[in-house]
Amino acid sequence: MLQSLRESGRPDFAAGLDHCPVPLAPYRDPAFFEQEKAQVFARAWLLLGRIEELPEPGCYVVKALPTFGSSVILTHGKGGAIRAFHNSCSHRGSEVLPEGAGKQSRFVCPYHNWTYTPDGALIGVPDEADFAGLDKQTCGLKPVACDTWDGWVFINLQREPDVGLAEFLGPMAEHLGGLSYPSAATPLVFRATLDANWKVVADAFIETYHIPFIHPRTIGDTFASSANPFARLLDFTALGAHRAVSMYGNPDFQLGPDNKVERTAYAGVATDSVIAAAASEGLTAFLEHPAVNPTGSHSWSMDVKNVFPHVHIDCGPGGFWIHHFWPMSATTCEYEVKFYVAPATTVRERFQQEMYVGRVHEIILEDLANVARTQRGINSGGQQVMQLKDSEAGIRHHLAQLLKWVDAPSMREALS
Ligand code: FES
Repeated sequence: MLQSLRESGRPDFAAGLDHCPVPLAPYRDPAFFEQEKAQVFARAWLLLGRIEELPEPGCYVVKALPTFGSSVILTHGKGGAIRAFHNSCSHRGSEVLPEGAGKQSRFVCPYHNWTYTPDGALIGVPDEADFAGLDKQTCGLKPVACDTWDGWVFINLQREPDVGLAEFLGPMAEHLGGLSYPSAATPLVFRATLDANWKVVADAFIETYHIPFIHPRTIGDTFASSANPFARLLDFTALGAHRAVSMYGNPDFQLGPDNKVERTAYAGVATDSVIAAAASEGLTAFLEHPAVNPTGSHSWSMDVKNVFPHVHIDCGPGGFWIHHFWPMSATTCEYEVKFYVAPATTVRERFQQEMYVGRVHEIILEDLANVARTQRGINSGGQQVMQLKDSEAGIRHHLAQLLKWVDAPSMREALS
């Protein structure tokens, strides 16, 4: 693949995708936002998190759904089943639990203390005798379709989804299946509300063309080199509604002599990549999975697995991290990224992780500062289309899928 990068030929992965300009209206049009909400987010299986967040029966976690201004409660039931409920009381609709996680045997609505079990059953109504004809059996928390795959928890807001999770994942399940996720119980979380369409933000994390220009001081030399000065991708794979890209890494990258603190922190770390916190148990099996560095390149930095519509699972030399992009309006979104690192067992590891947190924070802020500027340019209406290069294939494919879903009468037809 590097040979084709050097010769400026079209990388093989562009085959099958057209090269036409693509419309910018989906990045600013309020009507398109409403269509995305109704036809995509209200119909697709939505990845919400990991089962490690619900380690044992009785555990729950409340997950915000920013696109809908609501939340769901995920629970680990007695029999081991992971279930989901609308976070809404059967009395007068109040949210029952605040956002957060824990383990408790009862969920008590704060408004008038109606009480539910983690399985959703209504078991307590203060002054029940004053509710004529109340049937508690039918007044439990309202369930949401929920399923898991390889430790990932998904919900579907359709009352009866017309396609199951396995069929929705399609070739992505085969691509990622069996991958172990080191340190999946210990995320570091960053969140932001952004003045940008959610796709403006997501697009910035599935291409590396911008890296030499937006991140010259932080990771410019990590993702580009004289052999690949514009950070072209190593690979792109369309996986049904989903996609994967593999990103180039400069194999000769070394921390500069001025990076004295970082050189001290990373001394002895095999990757020297500054996008990895440290080694952790289970990393060998993770790195040997065929979906991680799928081209087997010596010049590899990381992979992005885009689970349609709004989640990126990133795989790098130090493990994995995930991004959530939630549309709020045509020009605003909620963004969350979780980095998973093993609990430090030595002072050196802790030091490495602190350096890592500082570094990724800096890189993300560089990206986020850029997205608002991009959105303002899009809002101007001066441009009607985007010109995309082959290494921006992830953007092209994602937008094509969104347009297909918006037009399709059902999820099944969107996936056909
Ligand atoms: Fe929940 Fe009244 S709204 S108890």
